[in-house]
Amino acid sequence: MACGMAELQQLISERTGWRFDQSRRDNLLQALQARMAACGVADFDGYYLLLLDKGSAGMEEWRRLIDAVTVGETFFFRDRGQFALLRERILPALFAERGDKKVLRLWSAGCSTGEEAYSLAILVDELVGAAPGWMIDVIGTDINEEALRIARAGRYSEWSLRATGPERRQERFRRVDPGRGRSAGPVWEVDPAIRSVVQFHRLNLLDGPLPDRFAPVASTDLIICRNVFIYFRPEAIRQVLADFFRCLNPGGFLLTGHGELLGLEPGQAPFPFDPLVFPEGHIWQKPVNPPPAPSSRGFSTAAITQAPRKQPLQGARPAQRLQNRPPFQPLIPAMPQTSQSGQTPLPPRGPLPQKPASATVGSEAPEPGNLDTWMDKARDFANRREHDRAEACCRAIIAVNPLYPEVYYLLGLIRLEQGDWPGAHAFFQKVLFLAPDHGPARMEIDHVRLLLKENDQ
Ligand SMILES: C[S@@+](CC[C@H](N)C(=O)[O-])C[C@H]1O[C@@H](n2cnc3c(N)ncnc32)[C@H](O)[C@@H]1O
Repeated sequence: MACGMAELQQLISERTGWRFDQSRRDNLLQALQARMAACGVADFDGYYLLLLDKGSAGMEEWRRLIDAVTVGETFFFRDRGQFALLRERILPALFAERGDKKVLRLWSAGCSTGEEAYSLAILVDELVGAAPGWMIDVIGTDINEEALRIARAGRYSEWSLRATGPERRQERFRRVDPGRGRSAGPVWEVDPAIRSVVQFHRLNLLDGPLPDRFAPVASTDLIICRNVFIYFRPEAIRQVLADFFRCLNPGGFLLTGHGELLGLEPGQAPFPFDPLVFPEGHIWQKPVNPPPAPSSRGFSTAAITQAPRKQPLQGARPAQRLQNRPPFQPLIPAMPQTSQSGQTPLPPRGPLPQKPASATVGSEAPEPGNLDTWMDKARDFANRREHDRAEACCRAIIAVNPLYPEVYYLLGLIRLEQGDWPGAHAFFQKVLFLAPDHGPARMEIDHVRLLLKENDQ
């Protein structure tokens, strides 16, 4: 068999759902060469056969390759708008709805090193901490075993806590000795009480039908899956959305990253989620009385039918300790939070060096019909902290369409990450000029103003 890079890429794409544009192909080639050298395989043919091997050698090499290729950038309370929504709207609604059974399952799908799953657990604990009897279950899953090892250890550098304020640091983390030979700078360990409600599992979202294949994610109340679909082919996204639909309890919620499902509306069949539109972001809710779950892979969904909730979430009243909170009002804009508890100025720069700066993005060029794909490419570079290349993508998009708000939003986030607050402010302002209802930009601009003010004092 004469097998080349194209066949390997196809095998990986089939198994993981990933799509490969030029820049991702370059990364894949580098990872393949490194892995082939590490296991002493001379050519693509040999490596392809190794990956096909269903024995332990093939499985182990597959795992190592995946660990080398995935992009795991994440940090605690990463998306200000979404966490405000969760705190003010979604979680209170779920607590009200589940107040009789007091059981709640939350799933961070594509959790990387665990910060998102722990952030959820912290938030839930802040809301129901003192209310007795709740059984909270937070599950973090990822395809990357090495990332999960870090997640289970629950120890993080300052950089992971760059959006976590002093109060939360003090209450939810313990500063520990980094140990000899470890990198300089403080290490923060997640509070054992928080860690006790979070479990991490290796799960390839594309491996087969859920929840049949992996029972812990059945009967979930909330799925958060951010910065994962930007790497996926549209058919793979559809497949995973159908799986999420089956895993969610009626009335349960799905949160994706801002703009990640543009052009692929999960409100349409075969995943008839109800869209809930807030200024801070879009959320998808599984209807309380959904039609039969889609069966994309020809398996029966009857086994996972759950008892429907008594009433839609819209009518829910807040439970117990949450009585002072406003009732859940989907579709009614929430006011942006000017100062969320726990916000702190970002350090000017992260400890990780930027990858070698190259402003090239390959020979491909954006066109009016593929700007969303280019946005995903730019987000991917930003996720890898390859800011120059992310910006180059953004500039290329702007050359095609200078009125595309998402591109300025990403540029603002990059400036924020770089500690350039006036620059971030200018970009978020641009977003709001083009799209005055852009909730995430509004949240960020409020935050940046706060940082600028604190910096002045
Ligand atoms: C950029 S991180 C996102 C982390 C976190 N959700 C956030 O937004 O901060 C993307 C994660 O998706 C995971 N991932 C990619 N493809 C996957 C797949 N097919 N199944 C499960 N996880 C996958 C990667 O391993 C990586 O950890």
